[in-house]
Amino acid sequence: MTSSDSLDGTVVLLTGGTSGLGAETARTLADRGASLAVVGRDRARGEDVAADVAERNGDGWSEFYRADLASQASVRRLAARFRDRHDRLDVLVNNAGIHRSRRTETDDGVESTLAVNHLAPYLLTHDLADLLVDSAPARVVTVSSGIHTRASMEFSNLQSERDYDGMQAYARSKLANLLFTYELADRLGGTGVVATAVNPGFVPSTGLTREASLRTRLLFGAFKRLPLPFTKDVKAGAETLIRAAVDPDLADVTGAYLSDGEVTESSDASYDEVARRRLWDVSAGLVGVSPDWRLEDSPTVETGD
Ligand SMILES: NC(=O)c1ccc[n+]([C@@H]2O[C@H](COP(=O)([O-])OP(=O)(O)OC[C@H]3O[C@@H](n4cnc5c(N)ncnc54)[C@H](OP(=O)(O)O)[C@@H]3O)[C@@H](O)[C@H]2O)c1
Repeated sequence: MTSSDSLDGTVVLLTGGTSGLGAETARTLADRGASLAVVGRDRARGEDVAADVAERNGDGWSEFYRADLASQASVRRLAARFRDRHDRLDVLVNNAGIHRSRRTETDDGVESTLAVNHLAPYLLTHDLADLLVDSAPARVVTVSSGIHTRASMEFSNLQSERDYDGMQAYARSKLANLLFTYELADRLGGTGVVATAVNPGFVPSTGLTREASLRTRLLFGAFKRLPLPFTKDVKAGAETLIRAAVDPDLADVTGAYLSDGEVTESSDASYDEVARRRLWDVSAGLVGVSPDWRLEDSPTVETGD
């Protein structure tokens, strides 16, 4: 399969599809025939993207799901509605993300950056895991960032109750995306579902920094106006998401980090197996699911020993 091969019959659920990298990814996958469930908060923008997808994807289908990923109840309803309507899911793209200068908490009482950027992918993947396994070969793509290299987990201050710093909270949530992906890849071993984390590169023209500090907004604004070799436009940034989602060369590659389109190493902290299990268990507690999910279901592979 080449980058222009048909994705007819491929079912993709994509969060954060209403703007930036997500909207671009939805349109490009639709051009190749994929059916898309586009998730977002804003009905008007979501329905626009879904209509655009429907014009592009021929016989495929297109749906908009309105969901607020800051709310665990909303994430659960999203997964339930999708499962009610569909009996397969080939690719789940956990793309939605926020970067906030001020510390806020969700209605569930969780710091918002952790909630939207990490706990929502964790819970949505949990609620759709059986469907993905039943649809295998399938993929879970979670959008991290190169900025994860600046973070450590700091479990005693996971929700930034002390000394909130928007950039640090964002970077830590992106490290959490990697720890989650690597643990998920292990737990899904043998099921035919691969888990991949992605760094799209520096794409200053998206809406990501709309709630960031003035300094960060000014910086992104300047880079948007004056593109430099290390910045990308939305189309180029989305290429890494698309590669992780559908490139056949990566069909059997699990637990990988794709940065700027290539499989590469992430930070040392992201490979800390103790931290990743601890984060998994803490996350399970915060969203109210058993930490053992996908362990009891993992098939035993007979080795002949
Ligand atoms: N841009 C970059 O340089 C860069 C670099 C590395 C990684 N990333 C990652 O790329 C991903 C996409 O970001 P982007 O740059 O494309 O920014 P963006 O244009 O702001 O897109 C973010 C998307 O997430 C959605 N979202 C935010 N909070 C939500 C919530 N509570 N419920 C449902 N949807 C929500 C937004 O929906 P609304 O339109 O309703 O707000 C929007 O569709 C993020 O995970 C980000 O961390 C971006």
